[in-house]
Amino acid sequence: MASRKPFVGGNWKMNTNRTTGSDLARAVSDGLMTLDGVDAAVFPPFPYLLTVRSILRDRGSSIRLGSQDVYHQNDGAFTGEVSVAMLKDCGVQTALVGHSERRHVIGEKDELINKKLRALLEAGMDAVLCVGETLDEREAGHQEIVNSRQVRTGLAEIPAPYAERLVIAYEPVWAIGTGKTASPQDAQEMHAAIRNLISRLYNADVAARVRIIYGGSVKADNAAELFSQPDIDGGLIGGASLKSADFVAITKAAAEAAKDKA
Ligand code: 13P
Repeated sequence: MASRKPFVGGNWKMNTNRTTGSDLARAVSDGLMTLDGVDAAVFPPFPYLLTVRSILRDRGSSIRLGSQDVYHQNDGAFTGEVSVAMLKDCGVQTALVGHSERRHVIGEKDELINKKLRALLEAGMDAVLCVGETLDEREAGHQEIVNSRQVRTGLAEIPAPYAERLVIAYEPVWAIGTGKTASPQDAQEMHAAIRNLISRLYNADVAARVRIIYGGSVKADNAAELFSQPDIDGGLIGGASLKSADFVAITKAAAEAAKDKA
């Protein structure tokens, strides 16, 4: 089995303010001063990106800075949107696209998500493509079809070398913010199916290298078991990423799990 460096992202969503976000960034960077064997990133709200960037930079932290969304056009009359160039200018290294709340609260479709992903990767940035089925879709047994469609359409016209910079986050909608974590077995099954699809879309080598992370009620006390699954390469953390001690513990659990898998 290829050994993949795990990735843990803290998606702060529409939480924190300038003071609490700064405190959180400081505490997380202090807790993860020696980031060994794991990539970690935080995704603060847009207005706090520059503040968090200064904190991470001043502390020499290797935690990466990410945004929760992006728009695919370079500039122009797109009121309220933020371009890839603007994010790069602010020191942002990676971005989420297609998060469940963007899909289901804001109404983003696969085609738009694909444009955003292409814009990020073409500009040399990293990206996290989020996919996941709703409760109705799972209860109807359609989870594999739904995730396949989201991955396939999300990755349309994205060449293999770009996949190096891509992380895929499997986040079942019914597990997000509900406290109902997917069982490690169910999550593993979907991760394996997504990896299999990547192998068919690209090749076995790309599939062995791409990181597929799990999101949905990951906590300090369930992270280790999830991350021990062969195809789960870390997590995208919502609620628990707002508590520095929990985010630090979850990130360390990912590094430990990777050692055991190596
Ligand atoms: P929770 O960890 O709060 O369930 O959120 C998961 C998520 O949506 C991360 O992007």
